[in-house]
Amino acid sequence: MEDITKVIIPAAGNGTRFLPYTKAIPKEMLPLLDKPALQTIIEEGIASAIKNYIIVTSRDKSSIENHFDAHPALEAFLKEHNKESLVECIDRILKTTEFTYVRQQEALGLGHAIWLARHCIQKEYFGVMLPDDIIVSKQPALEQLMRIAYQERASVIAIQEIPLECAPSYGIISVKKQITTHLFQVGSVIEKPSQKNAPSNLAIIGRYVLSHKIFNSLDYIRNYSVDEIQLTDAISHMLHNNEKVFAYKVQGIRYDIGTPTGWVKAIISLALQHPHYQGSIRRYINELNTVESHLYNTSKNIEHSI
Ligand code: G1P
Repeated sequence: MEDITKVIIPAAGNGTRFLPYTKAIPKEMLPLLDKPALQTIIEEGIASAIKNYIIVTSRDKSSIENHFDAHPALEAFLKEHNKESLVECIDRILKTTEFTYVRQQEALGLGHAIWLARHCIQKEYFGVMLPDDIIVSKQPALEQLMRIAYQERASVIAIQEIPLECAPSYGIISVKKQITTHLFQVGSVIEKPSQKNAPSNLAIIGRYVLSHKIFNSLDYIRNYSVDEIQLTDAISHMLHNNEKVFAYKVQGIRYDIGTPTGWVKAIISLALQHPHYQGSIRRYINELNTVESHLYNTSKNIEHSI
């Protein structure tokens, strides 16, 4: 199999679960410590040796393009003020990656967003990273999937175990064959089933390595979809065409940052692993655990930011 070098990132959604923040600011630009969430996703891609990023955006998302672009005036300012290390953290991504932007004009679903980028993909395997899903792991989640794709020469989707009552929020797989504790051959996939109809508790999370054949399947289901075009339905179509698809329980913790609760949890988890923030945040959390009604404790001084 040829090297996997491209990733499609659908970033055209409205972010309704995060209103009013997302009224004027794309949800992909939510901060995760000191960088936008989308940069964290791109860095996972870079750590997985991906060079080309095809980002599907929509109206009012120009801050995404501006973020991943040179900023000569800011660079000159930082150099003048001896802050060259900050230039380096902006430059590093631009030097090692290429960006292509595709616009989605109507919110017609995840499958439609991927289909719009079809002209960027040749007869090759490629990655899909959903920027709502932040996966904190030792080995980058996408790289974990790529390793399986090279090994099995087939498409691979990331999964995690969920409580069955959460099935209506996810694509769910059925297992054709269990290969190892973490690796499964997929029998079927169904998008957001009721708890009763869920074929397992194994839910798709936002990382995929897909064969280019997915575009034929998307073409096919486009003709029959009345509403949104689901990527899960296209994967189902590939399976009906006897394409092998594997599912891998990625090792790491996944946060859905499309909601405020998931976003706060992700930030805490990232802070606890970050050399600069971990000390002070750990101290703060320990304090919260020991001091009752911390926020209303009048003997507590105002927190100083570090
Ligand atoms: C999408 C996919 C779904 C998957 C989920 C993971 O749904 O359609 O199959 O389980 O991402 O985050 P969304 O959350 O965009 O509705």
